[in-house]
Amino acid sequence: MTNRIRKPYIAGNWKMNLDRAHSLDLIKTIKGRLGDGGDREVAVFVPAIYLADVTAVAQGSPLGVGGQNLWFEGVGAFTGEVSPRMLREVGADRVLIGHSERRHIFRELDEWMGRKVRAALDCDLLPIYCIGETLDERKGNKTERTLKKQLESGFEKVRPEDSHRLTVAYEPVWAIGTGETATAEQVAQAHRTIRKWLVQRVGEEAANQVRILYGGSVKPDNAKELMAIDCVDGLLVGGASLQAETFLPIIEYNLR
Ligand code: 13P
Repeated sequence: MTNRIRKPYIAGNWKMNLDRAHSLDLIKTIKGRLGDGGDREVAVFVPAIYLADVTAVAQGSPLGVGGQNLWFEGVGAFTGEVSPRMLREVGADRVLIGHSERRHIFRELDEWMGRKVRAALDCDLLPIYCIGETLDERKGNKTERTLKKQLESGFEKVRPEDSHRLTVAYEPVWAIGTGETATAEQVAQAHRTIRKWLVQRVGEEAANQVRILYGGSVKPDNAKELMAIDCVDGLLVGGASLQAETFLPIIEYNLR
């Protein structure tokens, strides 16, 4: 057992999956099983169109419900985008920022990340700021450089007193949806790099409040092992978060 100073955080990212009926079924099942939440924080990140329905079901439970993206402006001509206040209005209490699919498929820019994180914090949304290297960057020994560059941009407007509301997710792009999980050593090294950077950026006390999650092909049979790695405070789960049979055992990683 690791000696945890931060509450474990297990998050499911539904991406563009599940229809309305399946979303509501799944959230009911998770809510029923979660009880008072106990010693861990659990959240799901839901397509924006279903947020109002899902948050209505989750209400009264400790389950967090978040959006998968936001735009940093408050209002205006930004067709297709969702503002932080809109997410709050439909009951979201958190949001993913900089997910690799946003960066790589939708070409989101590093330069936007600091403003997105700031906009989330200013609207009382808890951001999970996602970072991670591509396979080419790893092969070219650029993993550390990539992570630091992404951290610089995401934390551009962060103040030390924001730290307790911030989470970073390390998701190596090559491990997402591929079935290929990073090795314990690769995860530990990346998480150490991130933590060291955080200490330099906001100081040790504040950095100690930021949780660092791992994401990329997390499954019921590797969750416990991943959570045992030093510096891993939680998991960001894609495919395996879409069914109760696979997500619940991950939430209960240490009870099996
Ligand atoms: P998978 O768990 O499907 O690899 O997805 C990870 C992810 O991108 C979570 O945000």
